[in-house]
Amino acid sequence: MSINDPDTCKAEDLKAPAATEFAEFPASWYRLCTSDMVRQGPFARDVFNRRLVAYRRKCGEVVVMDAICGHLGADLGLGEVVDDCIECPFHGWKYGHDGRCRKVPGCTTPPGFAAQRVFPCQERDGSIYFFNGATPTFPLPFFIDEDPKRYRSIAPRRFEAPCTWFMVNAHAFDVQHFGSVHGRRLLEPLKVDEPAPFARRSCYSAEVLSNNIHSLVLRRLVSDRVKITLTIWGGTFAVVTGDFGKSRSRFFVISEPNSEGHTMCDVVVFTPQFSNPIIGSVLQPLMLRIRRWLTTGYLQHERASLGSPRYNPHSLIEVDQEMVRYFQWAAQFN
Ligand code: FES
Ligand SMILES: [Fe+2]
Repeated sequence: MSINDPDTCKAEDLKAPAATEFAEFPASWYRLCTSDMVRQGPFARDVFNRRLVAYRRKCGEVVVMDAICGHLGADLGLGEVVDDCIECPFHGWKYGHDGRCRKVPGCTTPPGFAAQRVFPCQERDGSIYFFNGATPTFPLPFFIDEDPKRYRSIAPRRFEAPCTWFMVNAHAFDVQHFGSVHGRRLLEPLKVDEPAPFARRSCYSAEVLSNNIHSLVLRRLVSDRVKITLTIWGGTFAVVTGDFGKSRSRFFVISEPNSEGHTMCDVVVFTPQFSNPIIGSVLQPLMLRIRRWLTTGYLQHERASLGSPRYNPHSLIEVDQEMVRYFQWAAQFN
């Protein structure tokens, strides 16, 4: 009984969108690089179907813009920061923080077309994030009602999920797979709400039944009960909290679609900052490493066990209705 089958569809609002209705590269926040990468000069990498460069201004602010020079296409990531501008390595055109060309060697005035597209960006706890759009439609996400200054993170782990960004993030609303893939028995129905504009959240409590190594560690050492919230911002940026008894897990999974239709997932793990800096200098890195091992292990296990899932709006059934609602919601982020 497919939800899109006219005979079995109970309500028009359960019609799943066609795959072509989803943005290829949604307007959302993404992680470009670490702060360290712009310490010595500009840093560029390919993201979506373009190349972006980040550099740091004299005032300390970071700028993110298109890296392919508007003159003859050299890579600004191979240039230098000069006079608070980024200078192209080819003919020395200098671009300011607003993307406009300030200086062309041998010309009194730069040509009017000489401007690079600039992306809104934000630096937080050693990472540089950018928004894929002219103006952010929502703030850089964090754990709701928690202060980013009270948390520390560790170098993220990145893996490729062989499916689209909306299939990756639909997991938050895929009730059946919590049991079949993650070995978690829900103790109550999944709750779904929208805690802020551009955010959709699922929440559940479950018993951990899985016997894989990561779950066994949790069950034996921490708790066999878990309360999870998964908040998806802009369709792509997952903010996850997991409370296992007194132990709390906090992480992001940031989906970055690539041009092959797959998704690069950045897993950023957090722990609360220790109030005692001496104890924290020893224990914080250790706690972060353990958390990162547990979290990436959980996600890698899932990736390895599923092959390459494919979206099909015609094969969703009644029990998939929260996923269908997520797909409808996510299809609007163009
Ligand atoms: S290609 Fe950049 S200045 Fe010519
Ligand atoms: Fe999952």
